[in-house]
Amino acid sequence: MRHTAQSMSRKVMIIAALSGIAAFANLSPALAEEMAATVIEKGKAVAFDRKKGNCLACHAMDDGALPGNIAPPIVSMKLRYPDKAKLREQIWDASIRNPNTIMPPFGRHQLLSEEEIDNITEYVYTL
Ligand code: HEC
Repeated sequence: MRHTAQSMSRKVMIIAALSGIAAFANLSPALAEEMAATVIEKGKAVAFDRKKGNCLACHAMDDGALPGNIAPPIVSMKLRYPDKAKLREQIWDASIRNPNTIMPPFGRHQLLSEEEIDNITEYVYTL
């Protein structure tokens, strides 16, 4: 009897865990959209932050105020980078493509965290 009760409760626990995972993986489209919007907002905040990405020091970008013009404006990123990984690479270490670049290697020098670079990439990809 005891044994049966135990295996029953174990079964219930497994079912509960599995349905939890399913619910998590099966995000509603509205929730998935909300999460994407949060990532893009975070990316924009870090990109614009003068003590973080400070992209505006060199690039005109989105609605950023008083941008510098020593670098190309950040526009049409999906056309310029059909492969999003290449865009991330550019932000992570611009010297891979141009050894003489003045753009800081944000990832290689750990000026920004990997997550911040992910978020910036998602944001810049919308421009
Ligand atoms: C000190 C100036 C400077 C800063 C700060 C800077 N960049 Fe750059 N960036 C450049 C220059 C210059 C280029 C042009 C290519 C080169 O010289 O390597 C460039 C190129 C790029 C490109 C490629 C553009 C294209 O059309 O292919 C992207 C994307 C980019 N930067 C994103 C960023 C982001 C995002 C930030 C902030 C996190 C940033 N940059 C901060 C100077 C800068």
